[in-house]
Amino acid sequence: MGSISDQSVYLLSRDGAETERLNNQHRFLVEISGNILHPSIPAKNITAVADLGTGTGIWLEDIANCLPNKSVYLHGFDISPAQYPSGSEIHRPGRNPIPLSVHDALHPFPVEHHARYDLVHIRLLTAGLKYADYATVLANARDLLKPNGYLQWEEVDHTAFCTDSIPENPAITKLRQSVIEAMLKLGLWPFAPQHVHHQLAAGGFRDIRRATYTTIDREGMRAISQKWVAGVMRALVPASMVVTGEARDERQAKEVVERN
Ligand SMILES: C[S@@+](CC[C@H](N)C(=O)[O-])C[C@H]1O[C@@H](n2cnc3c(N)ncnc32)[C@H](O)[C@@H]1O
Repeated sequence: MGSISDQSVYLLSRDGAETERLNNQHRFLVEISGNILHPSIPAKNITAVADLGTGTGIWLEDIANCLPNKSVYLHGFDISPAQYPSGSEIHRPGRNPIPLSVHDALHPFPVEHHARYDLVHIRLLTAGLKYADYATVLANARDLLKPNGYLQWEEVDHTAFCTDSIPENPAITKLRQSVIEAMLKLGLWPFAPQHVHHQLAAGGFRDIRRATYTTIDREGMRAISQKWVAGVMRALVPASMVVTGEARDERQAKEVVERN
């Protein structure tokens, strides 16, 4: 179930099914982008990495295996520990565990983390960030970076869940529209990639690269991408339909999603 309070909004749930979805989604995203770290970031220079809104910590666990420095320091932060492994750390045989802290990225990070990281990673905060929050998260992320450090921020555009050659099922279009409508109603921002790009430029970051990943013309990825979209819809739509008034409660909304 999504959570909406005066202080924060989060359209997704944090239960076991959502934890599994996030981990599967990670594999899909790595496959579609072809990398876990953008090739413009020199992996060999990375000695410390922070992941904000880390969720289950899956990205951190994976990047550890892709960096040449095997003693790289890794740290995850999230506003909620609900999807953390037990003990709030990622256990790794023969290596130091990866610590996971609870921290709202809308608040400044503790000073011991300032200027500590060569790389800060952020991925998929759209279900929890309002339009003005992006600049705040960016400013707080910047505090974490060493001089000349790197930020990699990956977001999804909620208007882009479609493929070129298969006409979208009108029922899916409708569900997608419910999500966009609910996000706008809650002050969230469904067109995040463009906004992140603008904020980076406005925030004085240098050498900004924008990469767009798509399954268009990638026949082999069609089935897996459709499965991913269905999973995203199942995760986002129930809370959205309650926000838009299209469903009484999430149970009724789930029935509508499953019918489609
Ligand atoms: C869709 S999940 C993505 C998790 C992870 N980044 C990934 O890509 O697998 C979004 C995560 O952002 C977290 N989140 C939302 N708002 C946040 C905030 N203000 N500060 C820190 N984390 C936040 C949520 O709790 C959730 O774990």
